[in-house]
Amino acid sequence: MDVKVVIDCDPGLDDAVALILAHRHAEVIGITTVSGNAPLKATTANALLVTALLGADTPVHAGAARPLAGEPVHASEVHGESGLGGAAPVEHERVPASDDAVTFLLEAAGEGVWVLALGPLTNLALAIERDPTWPRRIAGLSLMGGGIGPGNSTAAAEFNVFADPEAAARVFESGADLTMCGLNLTRQLRTGDAFTARLHGLDSPAARFAVPAFDFLHGRVEALTGRRSAALHDPCAVLAVTHPELLVTRPRHVRVELEGRLTRGMTVVDERPLRPAPEANAKVAYTIDAERALDLVVEALAAD
Ligand code: RIB
Ligand code: CA
Repeated sequence: MDVKVVIDCDPGLDDAVALILAHRHAEVIGITTVSGNAPLKATTANALLVTALLGADTPVHAGAARPLAGEPVHASEVHGESGLGGAAPVEHERVPASDDAVTFLLEAAGEGVWVLALGPLTNLALAIERDPTWPRRIAGLSLMGGGIGPGNSTAAAEFNVFADPEAAARVFESGADLTMCGLNLTRQLRTGDAFTARLHGLDSPAARFAVPAFDFLHGRVEALTGRRSAALHDPCAVLAVTHPELLVTRPRHVRVELEGRLTRGMTVVDERPLRPAPEANAKVAYTIDAERALDLVVEALAAD
């Protein structure tokens, strides 16, 4: 029996791969979108596009167009202005089910329903604000965000947390059964030209979509870092729920820095060897079986 999931995301190239992977290994009962890699209108359109190429009628509910505080930030330098740079267009008739992601998140919560958060956490924070019992009514929350060590948006902060630190702080303090797949983990799952070559010759809609998308992503990362090798972030948060045996997590207390002039948006993971250990509010992922994970991604892209 597939696990039931709701996916909150900001497609985004890695979000798109995560959506495809989730549709192969879980019952995706709904998608909510948020401003992040691209503005909300684009991330919502991209979620509809990906579900259309899968032939899935998964409802897509648009959510927050801006963070709880401050101005929206985007990642067009990586994902392109559209959020799905390089991806082939897909003709479809799909439209959003609503523009009220928060109500959908609150109503979808229930026995055995997991939430996968792949973008800034604004929608989840607003859901918690409206119903503080929500975090305990979902089966669990697996998020891509934060990390231990270097950030990507800044030296200290990862994009999803940096884009809405106040929302992230609320989510980490909410009491949810939270698994954190941060950059320390997701940078272990890497794609490059050798990965893209595995997709050549696969005659599926998802593979035809993914090949130019990965070429675009690798080109953008090469321009930024000098290496044609990208971390495949969001699929990690999917696999933490669909294939938990591939990851090693440890209980940790995690807080989000809101005030630091240089560190705003940093996830501060308490790793002190104290006895008793500081009370944990998250299962922090430390390792992933990257070879098996990439095999699962290729299989998901190859499926018709
Ligand atoms: O820092 C990586 C995260 O930010 C991923 O979720 C990517 O899609 C962007 O949203
Ligand atoms: Ca994302």
